[in-house]
Amino acid sequence: MNTDATKKGSVWDVKEIRIEDLDPEALIAEKIDEISATVGDGCAVNALSGGVDSSAVTILAHRALGDRLKTYFIENGLMRPGEPARIAGIFKELGVPVEFVDAREQFFGALDGLTDPEEKREAITHSFYKVVFGDLVKQSGAKYLLQGTNYTDVEETIAGVKRQHNILEQLGIDTKKVYGYRVLEPLIQLRKSGVRKIAKALGLPEEIHNRPPFPGPALATRIIGEVTPERVETVGKATTIVEDELKSTGAFQYLAILHEDRVTGVRNGKRDFGLQIEVRCWESRDAKVGKPTRLPFETLEKIAGRITSEVPGVVSVTYNITSKPPSTIEAV
Ligand code: XMP
Repeated sequence: MNTDATKKGSVWDVKEIRIEDLDPEALIAEKIDEISATVGDGCAVNALSGGVDSSAVTILAHRALGDRLKTYFIENGLMRPGEPARIAGIFKELGVPVEFVDAREQFFGALDGLTDPEEKREAITHSFYKVVFGDLVKQSGAKYLLQGTNYTDVEETIAGVKRQHNILEQLGIDTKKVYGYRVLEPLIQLRKSGVRKIAKALGLPEEIHNRPPFPGPALATRIIGEVTPERVETVGKATTIVEDELKSTGAFQYLAILHEDRVTGVRNGKRDFGLQIEVRCWESRDAKVGKPTRLPFETLEKIAGRITSEVPGVVSVTYNITSKPPSTIEAV
């Protein structure tokens, strides 16, 4: 990562609002006014992924701009199974129209052959902001893109831990020049716990405001090695099982990771050189530091049994018992 770039216009200019100092109603009113004043009588776009950050921004901006906000759900092929339909349903009920954009070809094309974690993140950022939103902004005439960047995202990128997909201006990128639009980030002073309070105060259902975090680059952060539609399908199936088995734990985040290496297994008495899935379950407050949840062994055995019987090709399941740091929450 370019350290000179990381210092320009950095997060250090942004003042964190700590959870104990947050007045959700006051901040909502302030941000709605700010969005209205900045966008004026023009229009803006935003991408909804269904995560708490982008959902909160969608409602804030919808309140500020009404039908001058165009909300897109970008189908990048990297989402969890069933996700697009579920999110569209929730927002339809809330009266917010969401338009689907099928961008699978662009994302898989950009990821083709890449195995380096930061190169994969860069490819996703480029596909999202330049290729997909560059076009959508041209079509809609919008001058602004609203997004749910939070304080931790910026902090991690500036610190050089990971290039978070949504960090642009804090890295010295002039979005107007490079992509043709400005980025507005009304939640940037908040950490995840603060965003949840805002989302609840905005009337988002529990399913959204209490959702475990899910990264912008989606399942690509959980695939070690190349990201292909087949490999997304494998990690997606394992994710469904892990989420199903661990949702009652109340843990901060739980996930499945597909490894690049294969290992020798045995199935029906025959050698099966198969795939490995790693399960992670985190105790954390803000994703900055984390500890593995002390899951009952029976739970782990059940997950392993389900993954090896329900996800084709998997012969090994492991549980990560490392803290962050030195681990990170996602694998990529
Ligand atoms: P890591 O893996 O860095 O993750 O320990 C910290 C938290 O951030 C989420 N995450 C992301 N969120 N864009 C996001 O919006 C990203 O590029 C990204 N990468 C990781 C991760 O799920 C965890 O909650």
